[in-house]
Amino acid sequence: MPKHETAKQTESDLLHLVDNVNRQEDVDYNRRSFLRAMVAAGVTMSLATLPFSANSILGKSKEKTPRVKIIDAKDLPPGKSVVFNYPDDSQPAVLVRLQDGTLKAYNNKCTHLQCGVFWSEEEEKLVCPCHHGFFSVQTGHPIAGPPQRELPLIELEQRNGAIYAVGRKVRHGAQNV
Ligand code: FES
Repeated sequence: MPKHETAKQTESDLLHLVDNVNRQEDVDYNRRSFLRAMVAAGVTMSLATLPFSANSILGKSKEKTPRVKIIDAKDLPPGKSVVFNYPDDSQPAVLVRLQDGTLKAYNNKCTHLQCGVFWSEEEEKLVCPCHHGFFSVQTGHPIAGPPQRELPLIELEQRNGAIYAVGRKVRHGAQNV
């Protein structure tokens, strides 16, 4: 092969090699950029869901809710109940004063199919008449019948002779109704 042709071949090989190196660098750069973007997206998602995750770990979440007067304490004797709405008019709830004076309140939409749950003084339970569902008045947990989830708890406060609803806890696994 003539000398000038060998030189041309070598130059062509070199250009080809440089081209391949550049292409490999592009691939590496794009891979690094993609990985960086994925890590950034993962961190952003983790931070955005942190409050929810913390509540999930604790097994409950607390909504932002208003303070609403339910009844004057003197008007609710032991063994009796009163229905009210909380935190708004679309959310029915029941407040019960137990024989020992303890107050308990729950959202009273049944966690089975949303029928109204009421307090049975005779049975000392919260009762759903639709499919004979029963809930513990102490905890709101289902104790018999089809319901599987507990009733959301209404937090109470007594002030100046009146009983107020001040919050609602939707516990882990409970239906957010
Ligand atoms: S709706 Fe309450 S038991 Fe079915």
